[in-house]
Amino acid sequence: MNNDAVIPDISLLNQLGEVVGSDYAFVDQSSLEEYGHDYTEDLSFPPAILLKPGSVEEVSAILRIASLHEIPVTPIGARTGLSGGALSVRKGIGLSMERFNKIIEIDEKNSQVTVEPGVITQVLQEAVKAKGLMYPPDPASRGSCFIGGNVSENSGGPKAVKYGVTKDYVLNLEVVLPNGEVIWTGANTLKNSTGYNLTQLMVGSEGTLGVITKIVMRLIPHPQQDLLMLVPFRSAEKACEAVSAIFHAGVTPSGMEFMERHAILYTMKFMDEEPVPLAEDDQAHLLIEVDGNDLEALMADCETIASVVTEYDCGEILFAQDQAQKDQLWKLRRRVGEAVKAQSIYKEEDTVVPRFELPRLLTAVKEVGHKYGFESVCYGHAGDGNLHVNILRGEMTEESWNKTVKVGIRELFERVKALGGTISGEHGIGLVQREYMDIMFSEGHLQLMRAIKQAFDPKGIMNPGKII
Ligand code: LAC
Ligand code: ZN
Repeated sequence: MNNDAVIPDISLLNQLGEVVGSDYAFVDQSSLEEYGHDYTEDLSFPPAILLKPGSVEEVSAILRIASLHEIPVTPIGARTGLSGGALSVRKGIGLSMERFNKIIEIDEKNSQVTVEPGVITQVLQEAVKAKGLMYPPDPASRGSCFIGGNVSENSGGPKAVKYGVTKDYVLNLEVVLPNGEVIWTGANTLKNSTGYNLTQLMVGSEGTLGVITKIVMRLIPHPQQDLLMLVPFRSAEKACEAVSAIFHAGVTPSGMEFMERHAILYTMKFMDEEPVPLAEDDQAHLLIEVDGNDLEALMADCETIASVVTEYDCGEILFAQDQAQKDQLWKLRRRVGEAVKAQSIYKEEDTVVPRFELPRLLTAVKEVGHKYGFESVCYGHAGDGNLHVNILRGEMTEESWNKTVKVGIRELFERVKALGGTISGEHGIGLVQREYMDIMFSEGHLQLMRAIKQAFDPKGIMNPGKII
């Protein structure tokens, strides 16, 4: 792969700047540095020029210039990504989509929304909720992440267990191809069996195939009721075992989150709040939500869940009494990632296995950590079999951190694969997981992916250095 940094000469920089106008083109060090990192570890890769286009025509003009002069282009959202997808690893153009911040239309008649990629996910959720509709995917960073980033990474979040992930809502995308041509990938219909599914190919492609400039999504009616319970367990493995048992008992929760003891401890310390009574022997918690329109049915679901978890050595169950308590518990869960990362330099893995294998995944994480000498804090979307594994650097030497831990991660990923799982559930491959793709795919399979990339982007300008 070509790793060369590309710094356009002054006349090209001027030409690019003219497309967006001087208020929206930046070459000063502080802007470039600000847009050179996301939430991935402590990595920093500033672009050579930062552009903030305001229209699809401007994006198209930028890509035409970039294509002609073979300048790398890295689309940038809200920089909350966890796999380094928005890092300008070969410099070139950083293309911030923040001015694409309009909800174009909420089509109540068809329960659809057309939105620009720079809209904050929570803003979108609240706008459609005001019309009685729901956009369910809600990453922990929903208060700051962009919907375009969610589409690019195929983000999930706690509600995926009942409602699915971003891909399950995207119907159609306006995309600027690397040569500047603008296409719509699908149709604004719930069904579409018309040719190759380029919409779903774009979802999760992490800005490597083109630039998304409009998104059409389907919505669902907003459920009127929800109940939330927090269940402590004396063994983390037992908590994981309880997860599939709950589904077997006939309940599909709308949230089924797992937090290890240290995830809760670090987060309460970080927030300086103690919403969770943590007993000496609580090793892990499940935060379980059910939602729907029939309160009595939801209460019956909670009773079923309570009787199942009792079989798995749980402590006293906390039922959230009111909206304030629900908000407090969800806030705690949403801030775990941030809190754990505040402890130490870290690497975050996003392992996922078929749900029933979750206890085996947790065991594998701890065994591999023990073998390679690293501490991990696990939390995540237990109902999806999706465990976020935060590996803390702590006192580790540079050598151990950069070499030994990577050998350990490789071994963990091999065990994940053996359990029928994969190496990223919702954070993407981006920059940091790319070196592990050979675990999941044969050379022939990777060649096929490279050929797809080549078909979209023959000059290799779109977000180079990512995925493959
Ligand atoms: C979460 C993010 C890290 O679940 O995916 O908190
Ligand atoms: Zn997550």
